Amino acid sequence: MRFVRIIFSPTGGTAKVAAAIAKDWLPAETVDLSDPNGAWAGLALQPEDVALIAMPSFGGLAPRVAIERLERIRGNGARCALAAVYGNRAYEDTLVQMEDAAERCDFRVIAAVSAVAEHSIMHQYAAGRPNRADCEQLAAFAEKVIEKLRSGDCAKPAIPGNRPYKKAGGAGLVPKAGSGCTECGLCARRCPVGAIDPKSPKSTDAKRCVSCMRCVSICPQGARKLNAAMVSIAALAIRKACAEPKQNELFI
Ligand SMILES: Cc1cc2nc3c(=O)[nH]c(=O)nc-3n(C[C@H](O)[C@H](O)[C@H](O)COP(=O)(O)O)c2cc1C
Repeated sequence: MRFVRIIFSPTGGTAKVAAAIAKDWLPAETVDLSDPNGAWAGLALQPEDVALIAMPSFGGLAPRVAIERLERIRGNGARCALAAVYGNRAYEDTLVQMEDAAERCDFRVIAAVSAVAEHSIMHQYAAGRPNRADCEQLAAFAEKVIEKLRSGDCAKPAIPGNRPYKKAGGAGLVPKAGSGCTECGLCARRCPVGAIDPKSPKSTDAKRCVSCMRCVSICPQGARKLNAAMVSIAALAIRKACAEPKQNELFI
């Protein structure tokens, strides 16, 4: 039996949640859906294998590129748990989209988790999460998933969300390189969608950019930024929705 973590985590919050869930599971392989050349292309699991599939919520939906790459994997009847990670506003239809995609590529969904992580654009929301209490709770969720796996119960839980899914929002915020940019090219190499030209890293293809914030989070010079005024407006718009800390949830 193989245990595979299939993760899209541009800025690391989703990866932290996945690590907390999978802490005590078998030594796991990680398949990185944010790597354009990752092992997801053509990966085929076996019916006895188990996967944890984790993605962030972007605008209440799963990132399209993550779903497209997930769909290149053949589940071949392997069981999976899903984790949707969000920045304390809402995850809306993220989990049902993940459920549908996982089933399209022949996984059996036996559990789902929604979990909160620091908002990767508006860092004041869910700052520091997942914290220690979150990680303990996520480990307790994982115990329940393991019990279910051991019992041989493959029933699919009821997972919240709407079909048809909510409409995707318009163009996102596109980070720009400021004067501190040394054109080292790290952002271009690590961009999940190849939106930054390696020969000229100061220019970003706004049509390709998925606003995932990978480039902002990894720039060694801190030179890639969003327009601060736009971020303030966006933060104000979701302030009420983010006021109370949301709870992690397990659907099993
Ligand atoms: C483009 C974009 C859209 C987002 N939309 C939402 C959202 O609708 N609801 C929410 O609660 N958090 C939202 N977030 C916050 C992320 O879901 C959260 O920070 C997540 O942990 C990011 O995952 P990562 O750290 O693995 O990149 C959004 C973040 C980005 C970059």
